[in-house]
Amino acid sequence: MKSTKIYIAGHCGMAGRAIARSLEQAGYHNVIGKTSKELDLRNQKEVQDFFEAEKPEVVIDAAAKVGGILANKNFPYQFLMENLQIQNNLIDGAHQHHVKKFIFLGSSCIYPKQALQPLKEECLLTDVLEPTNEAYAIAKIAGVKACATIRRQFGKDFFSLMPTNLYGPFDNFDLETSHVIPAMIRKFENAKNNGNLAVTLWGSGTPYREFLYVEDLAEAVKFALENKMEEELYNVGTGIDLPVKKLAEIIQKTVGHTGEIIWDDSKPDGTPRKWMDVSKLKNKGWSYSVALEEGIRRTYEWYINNKKEY
Ligand SMILES: NC(=O)c1ccc[n+]([C@@H]2O[C@H](COP(=O)([O-])OP(=O)(O)OC[C@H]3O[C@@H](n4cnc5c(N)ncnc54)[C@H](OP(=O)(O)O)[C@@H]3O)[C@@H](O)[C@H]2O)c1
Repeated sequence: MKSTKIYIAGHCGMAGRAIARSLEQAGYHNVIGKTSKELDLRNQKEVQDFFEAEKPEVVIDAAAKVGGILANKNFPYQFLMENLQIQNNLIDGAHQHHVKKFIFLGSSCIYPKQALQPLKEECLLTDVLEPTNEAYAIAKIAGVKACATIRRQFGKDFFSLMPTNLYGPFDNFDLETSHVIPAMIRKFENAKNNGNLAVTLWGSGTPYREFLYVEDLAEAVKFALENKMEEELYNVGTGIDLPVKKLAEIIQKTVGHTGEIIWDDSKPDGTPRKWMDVSKLKNKGWSYSVALEEGIRRTYEWYINNKKEY
C-alpha cells in the first residue's frame, strides 16, 4: 500500500537517497528518515525510542559505515563495530516493534575470496574472506544471519539484498575514502583541468569488478518491497564485470582526459574477481536497466554540477 509507513535508515546516503526518490516517484507518501545527527543508530536506547515513537511498518536498512580499500585497511575496528552496532540496533528494534518487512543491504564482499565465480548466494561462509575488507564483511554477514534467523525462528519477512559495487549521484568523491568510480572520475577531471597530466591509479588494473548504477539498486529494493521474497538472501547486480583497466578507459573517455595512465601496483588490488550470479533475482522478475557507460555518463554529469561541495 502506498500509505505504508516506511523508514529508510541512511536516507541521506547514496543508496538511501536513490531509494527514497524511487519510492516517492512510485507514489509512496509515508516514507521517513533521520540523519545520523538526529538519530545515532549506534545508540541502542535512541533506536528503541525511535521505533516506539514512530512505529514504522517497513524498514529499509541503507545505513552503514562505508568506505574504499584504504579506509577499510586503516579503520577495521570502526568498520566492524559501527556496522554491527547500527544493524543490530535496527534489526532487533524492528523485531521487537513488530516491523512487518525488513530489507537489509549487505555487500558482495561477504563472499569468500576464492569462491567459484559467478558468486552464488549459496557460497556464503564456504571459505575465507578477502583480508582487506574482512572486518566490514564479517559485520555484513552477521546482519544477513540476524535477518535469516528472525525469518526462520519467528516466520517474519526479514531478508537481505547483496548489491555489487554501487555508483551514481551522491557518491563519495573524497579521494581518501572513496570507491573506485568516483575516485577515477575525480582524478581524471583534475588531471584534464591541469593540462592533461598523467593520472596514477591504484593497483595493477587487472582485477575484475562489477558495478550497478544506484538507481537500479533502488528499483531492486522497490521490487523487493512490492513482491513476496521467499529467500533469505538475493544478489543484486548486472551479472556483467570488466577489468579495472577497461573501466579506467571508459571513465577517461567520458571525462575527456587525454594524458597517460600510470598503474601503482604498490597499492592493494583487493579481491581478484567479484562477479555476481544474479539469476535468483532475475528469475523472480527483476534485472538492471542502466548500462555502465550510461551510468558513468550520468554520474560524471552529476559530479560536474555538484563538485563545489568537494
Ligand atoms: N557504495 C557501495 O558501493 C555499496 C556496495 C554494496 C553495498 N552497499 C551498501 O549499501 C548501503 C548504503 O551504502 P551507501 O553507499 O549509500 O553509503 P553512504 O552514502 O556512505 O551512506 C551511508 C548512510 O548511513 C548513515 N549512517 C552512517 N552511520 C550512521 C549512524 N551512526 N547513525 C545513523 N546513520 C548513519 C549516513 O547518515 P548521515 O549521512 O546522516 O551521516 C548515510 O546516510 C550500505 O549498507 C552499504 O554497505 C554499498
